[in-house]
Amino acid sequence: MTPTSVSAPASSIGNVRTLGVLGLGEGRSIISAALSSEHWRIGAICDLSEDLCRARQQEFNLPGFTTVYRDMLDDPQIDTIAIYTPDQFHARHCIEAFQAGKHVICTKPLFDTLADAKAVKAAAQAANRQLLVGQSSRFFESMLRQRADFEAGKHGEVFSVEAHYHADHNWYFGKHRAIDRYKPLYGGISHPADLVRWYLGPIEEVFGYGVLTPRGRAAGLTHPDSLHFVLRSLDGKIGRVSGCYSTPTPPSDRDSHVTCILRGTEGASQADAYELRYATTFAGEGERIAHYNDRAAYYFRFGGTMHHAGEFQNYLDYFARCLDAGVRAEPDLDEGIETVALMHAMELSLQRGTPVRVSEVLSLHGF
Ligand SMILES: NC(=O)c1ccc[n+]([C@@H]2O[C@H](COP(=O)([O-])OP(=O)(O)OC[C@H]3O[C@@H](n4cnc5c(N)ncnc54)[C@H](O)[C@@H]3O)[C@@H](O)[C@H]2O)c1
Repeated sequence: MTPTSVSAPASSIGNVRTLGVLGLGEGRSIISAALSSEHWRIGAICDLSEDLCRARQQEFNLPGFTTVYRDMLDDPQIDTIAIYTPDQFHARHCIEAFQAGKHVICTKPLFDTLADAKAVKAAAQAANRQLLVGQSSRFFESMLRQRADFEAGKHGEVFSVEAHYHADHNWYFGKHRAIDRYKPLYGGISHPADLVRWYLGPIEEVFGYGVLTPRGRAAGLTHPDSLHFVLRSLDGKIGRVSGCYSTPTPPSDRDSHVTCILRGTEGASQADAYELRYATTFAGEGERIAHYNDRAAYYFRFGGTMHHAGEFQNYLDYFARCLDAGVRAEPDLDEGIETVALMHAMELSLQRGTPVRVSEVLSLHGF
């Protein structure tokens, strides 16, 4: 059976919820997810670009669109807003959604600074609404299976977590409107940073090095595009997070784009996201490598792997089940803020050349 939940309540069809989608670039994947879901219907789609709205309307045969966010906020039918705008707008768009009484799904990175994090939290609390961070990597087939084994205790006590997200992102740098301000640390590292935090819990300290490669500089980047970090959790466990984004990668048979490795007292596992591959060494089971290629059409439904429809489907359905059952969906706003604080601490570590405590960053921002 395919695990589609992460400690979620069992599937039961409650209300069919109505989704508003803001930002129709990668927002395409959540439209596809909602249309394939028994938990959701699309209430509205919105982008500043009328051309893009029209293209998505035709692609998915939707009745209409709007270029004005306020139209979706004022629509009482819409229960949840899914936000896929550029990183620097996430905080503002989340606050507006909460003020309109909506639940929120916000893509990663939740924010690219903690400046407005307190205001988002206050708005969520005042509205008594939930936020799910769309950390898509958690919701790949292999990652869900790894989490289920972790929760079943098959690794024993996990003391080391290593995660990376490596990809040649030159295609993305080329289409980015403000490439000189883009930080691969937030855009890319948010995936492995979240995975390591998911297993290790709150991180005490982080240290790392980064480099802006000649290829990244030629693409217009001004911030490091290749980064390696080591971390220690509050309870003394260790982790490693890496991301290299402007150069070719080794063949994916040997080096998956997104990988998470757990090492514990009773076993070890390696989840490779895009390859739909999960390898384990557990006591009494020996070594196993499972391939879930039969799920490729579900995950990669637009062709190619450069979109996220399957993972988005998994977290969208998971969010509906949590809302229906009145339980907290993860990663929530607090976890999202901790991951942004971790990335900020990583950034400070690159600047200072010393380890940085995450608590320093959190207290700087009033947490
Ligand atoms: N794995 C993942 O979960 C994943 C993958 C890709 C992108 N993303 C995230 O999705 C977000 C968007 O990325 P993208 O590649 O689609 O970027 P993009 O620039 O292609 O699309 C963003 C869209 O938002 C629209 N927009 C901006 N402000 C708006 C507003 N006020 N009202 C309505 N529309 C507005 C823009 O017109 C644009 O079409 C980023 O935060 C990115 O990190 C997540």
